Amino acid sequence: MKTLAVYNVKGGVGKTATSINLAYLAAQSGRSTLLWDLDPQAAATWYLQAKGGEGPGKAQWKAGSELRALIQPTPYENLHLLPAGLDNRHLDVWLRKDDARDALAQRLESVAGDYDLAILDCPPSLSHLADNIFTAADLVLVPVVPTHLSLRALKALIDYFREESYPRSRLKPFYSMADRRRLLHRTLIEQPPKTMRDVCRAVIPYTSAVERMGEHRAPVEAFEASAPAAEAYRELWKEVNAALRGR
Ligand SMILES: Nc1ncnc2c1ncn2[C@@H]1O[C@H](COP(=O)(O)OP(=O)(O)O)[C@@H](O)[C@H]1O
Ligand SMILES: [Mg+2]
Repeated sequence: MKTLAVYNVKGGVGKTATSINLAYLAAQSGRSTLLWDLDPQAAATWYLQAKGGEGPGKAQWKAGSELRALIQPTPYENLHLLPAGLDNRHLDVWLRKDDARDALAQRLESVAGDYDLAILDCPPSLSHLADNIFTAADLVLVPVVPTHLSLRALKALIDYFREESYPRSRLKPFYSMADRRRLLHRTLIEQPPKTMRDVCRAVIPYTSAVERMGEHRAPVEAFEASAPAAEAYRELWKEVNAALRGR
C-alpha cells in the first residue's frame, strides 16, 4: 500500500477537493483506495456521503487494528472512507503520548493488506500529527495557491523538511485554485519561483465546477467529466501515480 498525504499548513487551499478527486480517480483506475479524513471539520467525510461521520475515538485510535471496523463504503467502487469526527481534534494529543513519529504509519500498517493506496486528507496545522503524516507518507502533495503568502508557506515547509531531515523528494507541490485572469497568478505560473520547480505540472483552475462539488457531494469527474477542472485532476492523478510508482 502506498500512502499519499494532501497537506498544507494553510486552510482553504483545495486539500479536500484534491483528496476527493484523486481518490475517485485512483479507485476508478482499479486501485483499492482508502481515503482517511484526518480533519475534524470532516469535509471529505461529508463529500463522500458517509453515514454518521464517526471518526476513531481514543480506544480505536490506540488499537490500530480496530480502525478497520470504522471504515465505511462510499457510493464508489473501490473507494472506502475512514471518516472524521470531532474527536479527530484530539489526534495530536493521543499521538504525542505515543511520542514517536511513526504512530500514524503503524495504524496505517494495520489496514495495508486491504488497500493499494491510502490518501490522507490532512488538517491545516504544523503539529505532531503533521510529523506523523510526513513520516507515514510516500508522497506529500501540497496545493499552493499562486500568491506570495502561499509560496512563503511552501518555503517554510521546505525548510522544515530540511531541518527535520525528511526527504525533499517526498514533497510535491502543485498550483491549486489558479485564476489565470489575475496577473499575479499568471506571472507566478509562467515564471515559477525556485520552490515551484520540480513539482507537479498540472494546474488546478479556480472554477465553479469545483465549487459545485458541494451541490453534488461528489468529485467533479462524477458529475462533469468534461469540465477543465476534471481534466486538470486527471493530469494531476497521472503525475501522482507515476511519482508513487517510483517509491
Ligand atoms: N479549484 C477550485 N476552484 C474553485 N473553488 C475551489 C477550488 N478548490 C477548492 N475550492 C473551494 O474552496 C473552498 C476550500 O476548499 P477545500 O478543498 O475544502 O480546501 P482545504 O481542504 O484546503 O481547506 C471550498 O469551498 C471549495 O469548494
Ligand atoms: Mg480540508
